[in-house]
Amino acid sequence: MRQFTARIVRLNALANGHVLAAVAGPLPGGHAAGQFYLALPAERNQSAHHYLRLPLFLESFGPDGMTIELPPDLTYLSPGDELDLAGPCGRGLILPERARNVLLIAGPAGPARLRPIADSALARRALIVLYSETPQSLDGLSPEIEARFGPAHLSEAVGWADAIYADLERSALSDLQRRLRDGAANGEWPTLPLAFALLKPPMPCGVGACLACAVFTSHGWKLACADGPFFDLLDLEL
Ligand code: FES
Repeated sequence: MRQFTARIVRLNALANGHVLAAVAGPLPGGHAAGQFYLALPAERNQSAHHYLRLPLFLESFGPDGMTIELPPDLTYLSPGDELDLAGPCGRGLILPERARNVLLIAGPAGPARLRPIADSALARRALIVLYSETPQSLDGLSPEIEARFGPAHLSEAVGWADAIYADLERSALSDLQRRLRDGAANGEWPTLPLAFALLKPPMPCGVGACLACAVFTSHGWKLACADGPFFDLLDLEL
């Protein structure tokens, strides 16, 4: 992990109210899907009413810059403002070898935080379906990704998938976990796909020092900043 200053060059307000910021600067040479950055505004003013670093998840990364999702506390920032960033943090995801059919499950926040996984899966020529209970904008996503919206599609999508990556609120993750367990128990799917959930607790230090991001799993306490932020969904105590 390293600390650096990046400048916001462009903001993109999405239809769902989330804001993506394209940033440039002395960015790290690369990072893995699933990693994140911790941010503070470089210049503090009366709008900056928080003092702890906030996690920022990447939407995309390229040679000229990266695009990150701004958390609500930072959406007052404008192009030209600078962010003090630390990262990349977290354990990068390695797509399982057997994952040829990848199902991304997005909640109301949309698929932006899952895009690095989609990019990594596409680079491996995997097939990708994006599922959401409600319609989502597909802006920025590869046209190779199929979209399925509405609860009627979930069962078929899970049955098709080798691996699932879900970015949902905690209660929706809990519902999905129950649905997977019930479906496996009643034979709805012959094989249960691997399923991973993105957890987003407060992560002020990012290095396993403050324990603010502790998550309870069937293997005991884990830290979202060091062991996550993606966890095996079926291991989580939600
Ligand atoms: S953010 Fe401090 S231990 Fe995880």
